[in-house]
Amino acid sequence: MRFEDLTPDQIPEHVAIILDGNGRWAKENGKLRQQGHKAGADNVETINDALTEMGAKYLTVYAFSTENWKRTEDEVSYLMGLMKRYLIKNKKDAIARRTRIRIIGDKSRLAPDLRELMEEVERDTAHLDRFNLTFAINYGGRDEIVRAAKALARKAQNGELDPETITEETFASYLDTAGMPDPDLMIRTSGEERTSNFLPWQLAYSELYFTPVYWPDFTVDELKKAIVSYAGRQRRFGGR
Ligand code: FPP
Repeated sequence: MRFEDLTPDQIPEHVAIILDGNGRWAKENGKLRQQGHKAGADNVETINDALTEMGAKYLTVYAFSTENWKRTEDEVSYLMGLMKRYLIKNKKDAIARRTRIRIIGDKSRLAPDLRELMEEVERDTAHLDRFNLTFAINYGGRDEIVRAAKALARKAQNGELDPETITEETFASYLDTAGMPDPDLMIRTSGEERTSNFLPWQLAYSELYFTPVYWPDFTVDELKKAIVSYAGRQRRFGGR
């Protein structure tokens, strides 16, 4: 099957990506790790644009995990600075392309200026609906589930919610991804074949695609290969 032969309904509505391999890409190309992350951030723009053109609706990328704080202080501050520059640079573009930007994860540990910038970009793009770009920053899936459970427990404790009425839908509406459809396809680059605490609730029924290609080398052609693989799979699970 060739990408060009796919019909619009074979394009995944929501693609989630674990951006992995920036460091190894840098090393193999004789560059600094920082340059790897910069190339990785640039590639988010490329893949975001390609998915928008293909007719997909959502791209969610894992840009910083709750585990990433263990990296050197230099690398953490570089990644935070990169996120800031990315949001400043891309806000106008996102509005022009009618893209809504969301940030999922626990923002409480982020620097106040970055948090404010994130909230501003989320607010100023909240009405846009051609495409949805979501960054997972200081995100951990179990942490997200625990935060949702706490919020539900608080409501029950205040007598605002009867625990017996909680359904999967209610629970999902307390997650950071409330209102978003679950990913159809999850891609992880650079050879690791794990989901590493990325969207554990939301990926329950998603197709998974792993490639040895490092994230900065994940071109539009690689994306097309992933989508052809996705389209060729028979999705058999209880009707979802
Ligand atoms: C994994 O590569 C990547 C990350 C920990 C961060 C991902 C971040 C970006 C692509 C840049 C930030 C994004 C935006 C849009 C501002 P790695 O460092 O784990 O690579 P390695 O496993 O080869 O060392």
